[in-house]
Amino acid sequence: MRRRLPTAEIVAVDFSPRSIVWAQRLERATDGVRPITFRVGDLTDRKIADVVGGDFDLITCHGVLSYLPKPSVVLENLASCLRAGGALYLGVNGEAHPATRLRPWLASFGLAVDELRKERRLRELLGLWDALNDDGSGELATMSSSYLGGDVCGPHFNNWSLAQWRAEVNHSGWEVAGTDVLPMALHLAAERKNERVLYPAGVGELAARLDQARPAGFHRILLRRAPAGALELTNAGEGARPLHWTGLYTVRFSQSGARRTVKAVFNCAAFHVRFEHELTASQTLALRAFMAAGVAPDGWTKQWNRTSEGRRLLWLWAGLGVVAVGDAAGAGVRG
Ligand SMILES: C[S@@+](CC[C@H](N)C(=O)[O-])C[C@H]1O[C@@H](n2cnc3c(N)ncnc32)[C@H](O)[C@@H]1O
Repeated sequence: MRRRLPTAEIVAVDFSPRSIVWAQRLERATDGVRPITFRVGDLTDRKIADVVGGDFDLITCHGVLSYLPKPSVVLENLASCLRAGGALYLGVNGEAHPATRLRPWLASFGLAVDELRKERRLRELLGLWDALNDDGSGELATMSSSYLGGDVCGPHFNNWSLAQWRAEVNHSGWEVAGTDVLPMALHLAAERKNERVLYPAGVGELAARLDQARPAGFHRILLRRAPAGALELTNAGEGARPLHWTGLYTVRFSQSGARRTVKAVFNCAAFHVRFEHELTASQTLALRAFMAAGVAPDGWTKQWNRTSEGRRLLWLWAGLGVVAVGDAAGAGVRG
């Protein structure tokens, strides 16, 4: 985080004083960076904002909520630490996480898996598991005891589909604004022209449907606070919320063929997604104006929404992460 955001004010929190001491040691080993504020605090504490402060632009919570019996409590508490228009990033286990199959399998050998007890026996069984799952996902049998204690044995796991995580976050007033695999999954569907069956689902529903077809072992999810009544946008650009250019894609324009259309080549290095769209001259002008302004100019969305093909393009761009719907304050965390 510090490398990516060298000048940001960063507050790091964990309820384990040992973890905090460890992180401070890592920070001391990195020269010349703006200091990080460390706090010992419990995310399930309703008053966590008093410990860490409120008004954050971006909160990241990676590898934590999968191990808590009630993630919704933390989701509500984190909302009290975020400023209006901010974003929450979550890294959480998916349905296809190895532990989903591994734990019942270990239990069938009579091994208690709610804490790390018979470590030698566990490593023996993991050796067999690794041999049978030689898929490049790593050797579990050689992992450290602390990893096995947390990620294989552990009192509680939420290895949930994206649909389940989405229901949980929606319940706490959040909406899914994007996931790491959504652009690639939608791109694969669109390449074979199979995406039309998904139209016109909003970003959260899209991500959940694609995860059902191709379950992930881990989800990286970006969440925004949902304005009342607008949890599910059926169409990008609908309603009063402005549309932003995310800056994730570069676009190259070139004249194409006899039909006097323009070929626009979209490229996103972060997602490894590249695709082309044929645009009319006026669509090209409108797109250039949007890119230059960062926010869709007045009347822009209306113009695009006039034709069904224009609406479908907007919808695709929202799913692929080219554009994002949100209030103006959210522009600070685009990308
Ligand atoms: C698997 S580690 C992930 C650490 C780090 N975020 C990362 O991605 O490397 C989970 C961390 O969450 C902390 N944790 C678990 N429950 C917590 C809670 N209720 N409040 C604060 N921290 C918690 C644990 O102490 C542990 O350091």
